[in-house]
Amino acid sequence: MHILGISAFYHDSAACLVEDGKLVAAAQEERFTRKKHDFRFPTHAIDYCLKEGGISPEDLDFVAFYDKPLLKFERLLETYLAYAPVGFRSFLKGMPLWLRQKLHLPREMDRGLGHRYKKRYVFTEHHESHAASAFFPSPFEEAAIMTLDGVGEWATTSWGVGRGNRIELTHELRFPHSVGLLYSAFTYFTGFKVNSGEYKLMGLAPYGEPRFKDVILKHLIDLKEDGSFRMDMSYFNYCQGLTMTNSRMNALFEGPARQPESELTQREMDIAASIQAVTEEIMLRCARHVAKETGMRHLVLAGGVALNCVGNGRILREGIFDQVWIQPAAGDAGGALGAALFVWHQLLDKPRQVDGRNDLQSGSLLGPHFSNDEIRTFLDSVGASYDFHETEEKLLDVVADHIASQKVVGHFHGRMEFGPRALGSRSILGDARSREMQSVMNLKIKFRESFRPFAPCVLREDVDQWFQMRPEEDSPYMLLVAPVQEDKRLPVDDGATGLDRLKAIRSQVPAITHVDYSARVQTVDEKRHGRYYRLIKRFKEKTGCPVIINTSFNVRSEPIVCSPEHAYRCFMACDMDVLVLENFVLLKDNQPQLDKQDIDAYLSQFELD
Ligand SMILES: [Fe+2]
Repeated sequence: MHILGISAFYHDSAACLVEDGKLVAAAQEERFTRKKHDFRFPTHAIDYCLKEGGISPEDLDFVAFYDKPLLKFERLLETYLAYAPVGFRSFLKGMPLWLRQKLHLPREMDRGLGHRYKKRYVFTEHHESHAASAFFPSPFEEAAIMTLDGVGEWATTSWGVGRGNRIELTHELRFPHSVGLLYSAFTYFTGFKVNSGEYKLMGLAPYGEPRFKDVILKHLIDLKEDGSFRMDMSYFNYCQGLTMTNSRMNALFEGPARQPESELTQREMDIAASIQAVTEEIMLRCARHVAKETGMRHLVLAGGVALNCVGNGRILREGIFDQVWIQPAAGDAGGALGAALFVWHQLLDKPRQVDGRNDLQSGSLLGPHFSNDEIRTFLDSVGASYDFHETEEKLLDVVADHIASQKVVGHFHGRMEFGPRALGSRSILGDARSREMQSVMNLKIKFRESFRPFAPCVLREDVDQWFQMRPEEDSPYMLLVAPVQEDKRLPVDDGATGLDRLKAIRSQVPAITHVDYSARVQTVDEKRHGRYYRLIKRFKEKTGCPVIINTSFNVRSEPIVCSPEHAYRCFMACDMDVLVLENFVLLKDNQPQLDKQDIDAYLSQFELD
């Protein structure tokens, strides 16, 4: 039985194919269309999923959509009416897409599937989709479920319990009170792009003091012991306007919202630290309450706020639950996966088999892969110069040497990741021991001035030697932040202030150590990651260090690369030294010169994020 899950029309459209309960394929539309956070109907992602499953639309048994558009529309109307006539402009702006597409989803989906699918459409609720994406692939027989999000239909946060093959959400917080929208409001206020700059705000927080935390708790939200809260909407504009906050915020935060791309000052850093502290407080209170009410020892998480890996790390370290599993595609893309699994388990009552240890997400490596033959054909077509290494042994040796000699290495191997993080399949790798690598990679590869260090990949068995995590803990999806171990830290003569603090050498792996000694860790194990694991192991054999830098394979604002062609173009357009495409290794110095005009045209197509 084949079930196709779809999420679309908000941000991060995606498709997922489930065959007899197994995740066969999942991908975000942006990877194919090269338009970041593409929200259009995911035609390309669907085509890919069907191809991977070896089926066509008429072979599908169910198509599931990740939310209920009519309920969402009802929220929009009610919200508009509550504020009318204020908000007419923003209402009008949203209407065409609703009238054209969102209110006619079966028609749109029928068209998207080439009029070849004639069976049932299922619409799950937004938070059900998130909850299903968190629980069903998790390793647990039973667990508490929390979804923390912006907004779906009405719910913004929900919790409940998953047992066996069923989930039940029993409590919810409703729009406009939303931890996701609160965080996004501050993303907007500090001059970053909503729905993509949230990561930057989180990365900025360690530079600041949370001196506005009490202001937020006193004026903006009334936070209860159980983690629920009400927001004072007189400061926010998202119900009726085209912005997230209004000018009443200025008096509380010592001035107006920061202009995008303007200089970051200590004020923004302090605001970032404050909203991060408040968000963690909400997450912790909610987690404690849910643990108490459900009596569960395991927690699963999804929804956009579950990408707040600093908050996740705190939930774990406070020991509120014994184990936590987070859906790697925690944002709306993952709703496609949740909706499909919901149909299989909950609607069709199919059993779920778990062992309590291993999740069913397959390392989130659910996207396209390319054979050496396909890659050779492509490389020959563009006249690229390459070495082909027949054996893995030789290949790993060569690549590990490049990393150890401080080269920046594009690494393209196996199936593309599903979710916002690159986990080694579509990654740029570097030597975490290097003192210069952080700024080299930011300026020459990503074309951005960044205050964020890069994330480390560490061999699973060495994680507790390098980071303050328990030996049995893992973080295969890079969704947890943990401090670097004390004995790996270096004394810092930290006279610097503001963003210059990142330049200080704080540990033996400075490129991945944040100013507060934290790191966003990905643990790499042989079972999930295969050749990528063996690459890091080889690097360790050569250098004694089981930690490397892993950042996504893209330039600033570009969706992560999907195909060899995307990877080659990105490699040629920036100062990357080495490109690994499966068993091929390319050196930049040996490649034909690209026209400067072509490079500029390529780079200019990505909007700032
Ligand atoms: Fe969502």
